[in-house]
Parts: sequence; structure tokens; C-alpha cells
Amino acid sequence: MNQAALILIKPDGLKKSLTGNILTRLSETKLEIVAAKMARVSKELAEEHYKHLKDKPFFAELIRYLRGELHDRRKVMALIYWGKDAIGKCRELAGATNPEQADPTSIRGSYGRITTSGVYENVIHVSANEQEAEREIKLWFLPLEIIVDLYPTKEIIEEKKKIRIWA
Ligand code: PPS
Repeated sequence: MNQAALILIKPDGLKKSLTGNILTRLSETKLEIVAAKMARVSKELAEEHYKHLKDKPFFAELIRYLRGELHDRRKVMALIYWGKDAIGKCRELAGATNPEQADPTSIRGSYGRITTSGVYENVIHVSANEQEAEREIKLWFLPLEIIVDLYPTKEIIEEKKKIRIWA
């Protein structure tokens, strides 16, 4: 059955110029990329993304890490991979969450590290399961940014919304 997986190339991955390497590794899955963008990460977005970890001792540093405060790269690359067993395939290539326990040939095993303050800098995020993928995708993307219909949508009329257009 087709699945969607949210992938984030985190600020350490961007700073280390690993985007190409990571996308090449992920292309081994033969999955389809159905959305991709560079995104600034607000405190609210980072805290919502990792909300299940808010009681962990590393939470504050984790938020600073995802926001790029540790790498002077205030952005992440967010992608959605779509296809058969997308989550399992992407997680296998990513390797274990803890970069020191990850298979050395995996993305995290090759490029990740643990900081002196104990935060995993593991260059990539991959949704853990289908439920988390749906929650995360709805957090990071609008329906119109995704080229397939992943989840039910509805139309609303937004009035008096200021938007920026080309001059
Ligand atoms: S858990 O414990 O199963 O609820 O956590 P998990 O869903 O695997 O996500 C943990 C995320 O926090 C990041 N992180 C750490 N985890 C554990 N210990 C330490 N020290 C730590 N530092 C950071 C970890 O990388 C997971 O984020 P993602 O983005 O999924 O890699």
C-alpha cells in the first residue's frame, strides 16, 4: 500500500553540504517525491513537531538544533516521499536515530554525531509511522504544496488576507 513519509534535511545536513548525497541515497528507494521546499522553522513549528519530547532534558537544545541555531543555517529542506512502504524504506536508509548506533553505511551512520550536550545531530528526520507522518505532513505542508491527494481536504474562503505577490 502507498504511504507518505516526511523527510527533513536538518540544518547540520545543509551546513555539511549533504543535500545531494542524502537525496541520492534516498533515490535508491525508487519512491516518488511529491513535495519539496526549503522552510524556515519557527519556535512554534519546532515545538509542535517534537511535542512528544517536551519533557526530555534535551528538548530545548533539540529545538535550537532544528531551528538552525547551532549551525547558522536557519532553514531545513522538507520533502514528502510517497510510494509502497515509504516509511520503512526511508527509515532503513536513514539508519538508527542514535547516529552512534546507526549502521555505518546508513545516512545517519555516515554523517551523524552526538554533541557534547548530548543532542543527536543525525542530519535527517524520517516519520516514525503512518500516524506520525500524517500529523507531521499536515504541520509542514499545505495541501496545494503536495502534488497528490494524501488526506481529505476542504475549501474555505479567506477574506482580507494580506499576501505578497511579484511586483
Ligand atoms: S522516542 O523516545 O521514541 O519518543 O523518541 P523518537 O520518536 O525516537 O524521537 C526522538 C527525537 O529526538 C532526537 N534526539 C534525541 N533522542 C534521544 N536522545 C537524545 N539524546 C536525543 N537528541 C536528539 C532524535 O534525533 C529524534 O528526532 P528525529 O528528528 O526523529 O531524529
